Amino acid sequence: MATKLQYISHSAFYIKTGDFGILVDPFISGNPKAEFDVKKEKITDIFVTHGHADHLGDAIPVSRGTQAVITAIFELANYCMEKGAFAKGVNFGGKIEYPWGSAVFLPAFHSSSTPDGRYAGMPASILFDINGTKIYHAGDTCLNSEMKVCAEVYKPDIALLPVGSFYTMDADSAVTAAKWLGVKKVVPMHYNTFDAISTDIDFFAKKLEQNNIEPIILKPSESIEL
Ligand code: NI
Ligand code: MN
Repeated sequence: MATKLQYISHSAFYIKTGDFGILVDPFISGNPKAEFDVKKEKITDIFVTHGHADHLGDAIPVSRGTQAVITAIFELANYCMEKGAFAKGVNFGGKIEYPWGSAVFLPAFHSSSTPDGRYAGMPASILFDINGTKIYHAGDTCLNSEMKVCAEVYKPDIALLPVGSFYTMDADSAVTAAKWLGVKKVVPMHYNTFDAISTDIDFFAKKLEQNNIEPIILKPSESIEL
């Protein structure tokens, strides 16, 4: 089945597969780089890696408007439900099944609170299996050895990795992350949205190529077929 991965910008992606539309970390309103129109696309599932505003984004209003279910770590899912969203609270390591495949929440090393300051549980990375294609969305994290576990256990095909530094790992660490994850392709994310995370993305691409890993540099709103 054809699957399309669209980079909304920052850490936000839209994955279209068959009749399903999956939003990940939908930071759209207030995102200077996002042009995605949630009303024009079919949205059936929403995933949020952690509670920070640049990841939770529009998840709650979109869920309320579309009845799409937010899958998130337990504490964050509870917060979303209190705000009127449809949500499913999960935790690390469980294989959550969907009509299009499955998702496993895995550790990320970061922090997680809601925009109004409440503890939002642990931050996560998410390993998607979408009709057999395994996509690792790192969320916000530093380089960490759980990526080696992910490679051994889940064998991801493609990784979406933060490269912007300051709040997450930088481009150099992301090259190491790609090697540890054993992926053949990397889409960089979480850079150039704000000044604090400005990044020379051509330099990152060159370093990946030197390691025989394909850089997939997507401009905001661009997409690829998987
Ligand atoms: Ni964050
Ligand atoms: Mn962030």
